[in-house]
Amino acid sequence: MKRMLSGIKPTGRVTLGNYIGAIKPFVSFQDDYEMIIFVANLHSMTIYQEPKDLRQNTKDLIALYLAAGLDPEKVTLFLQSDVKEHAQLGWYLNCMVSMGELSRMTQYKMQVEKAKARKDTSIGAGIFNYPSLMNADILMYDPDYVPVGEDQKQHVELARMVAERFNHRYSDTFKIPEPLTPRVGGRIMSLQDPTSKMSKSDPTGKGCIYMLDPINVSKKKIMSAVTDSDSHVRYDKENKPGISNLMEIYSILGHKSYEEIEAMYEGKGYGEFKKDLAEIVGAELQKVQDAYNQIMASGEIEKVLDEGAKKAGRIAYKKLAKVERKIGITIRK
Ligand code: TYM
Repeated sequence: MKRMLSGIKPTGRVTLGNYIGAIKPFVSFQDDYEMIIFVANLHSMTIYQEPKDLRQNTKDLIALYLAAGLDPEKVTLFLQSDVKEHAQLGWYLNCMVSMGELSRMTQYKMQVEKAKARKDTSIGAGIFNYPSLMNADILMYDPDYVPVGEDQKQHVELARMVAERFNHRYSDTFKIPEPLTPRVGGRIMSLQDPTSKMSKSDPTGKGCIYMLDPINVSKKKIMSAVTDSDSHVRYDKENKPGISNLMEIYSILGHKSYEEIEAMYEGKGYGEFKKDLAEIVGAELQKVQDAYNQIMASGEIEKVLDEGAKKAGRIAYKKLAKVERKIGITIRK
């Protein structure tokens, strides 16, 4: 069985973008791949997190993974911080990339822009070194594929490059992973500004649907999504980014192709389309939230994480030992 690995940061509330671009695909792969999925809580530390919020967001994320349908019998689910080898391998790999390579990462450049816009007086070094830890997360487990949304593809490309560099320098050690982005839904856009990504850190929250939003709030957000002055429901990402984004959401959650959606709303206005989409989104959120509430009440989260950390830890322990032998850090045979 081929192996897949991915993670999500517990920073803020999980969005419909995370759900469509990452969590739903993970669920669809779990029967056909060996899946390793984790909560990237070390990565969340690059920006200050209120400890109480971090704890809650971490629990919520695990509960949402399970509520969306990830089965801990099939998938290894764990907290990144529970497997200490990630940080250590991250250090070695950080010593194998250049400052130039790290500073070319789009995500890094965007974080710096955001910090400047907020007029932050300093920018944490973790933001710069972030991809090295991500390289360690990935290369530790030799996955064949790394399913991610569009925004994380460049980081996976960097992991490939670092793996090749390491293998060349020290002999074959890491598998070269492939990024896997969804054909539809790899980049869900903000409902208020369809030229920018739907993001957990949306300043007003209006452009972003959170998976734990009250159902009526999520519906209102769809109804007030920015569209255009035309009234044809037609997929045209360049000229009609708002409506195209809503069609992407509709297509994934309503199981319809763009052609089917266009035919269904031929001659009807945006109002009817949005109303139906609001119902579809509301129903999906309701299903996930019902399961989330049950999981939170069941107390099963800690057991799942303990099991997951044991399984992931066994692989990580061996991999790190191998790396340390190869690079000459250890003097043991
Ligand atoms: P994070 O937490 O920002 O996002 C988690 C996943 O959700 C995807 N995503 C989206 N997909 C579609 N539309 C959107 N608007 C949208 N917003 C986010 C992201 O692409 C991602 O797949 N660095 C990673 C976490 C990480 C990781 C890893 C991932 C740490 N180590 C190793 C894979 C492998 C991150 O910040 O994800």
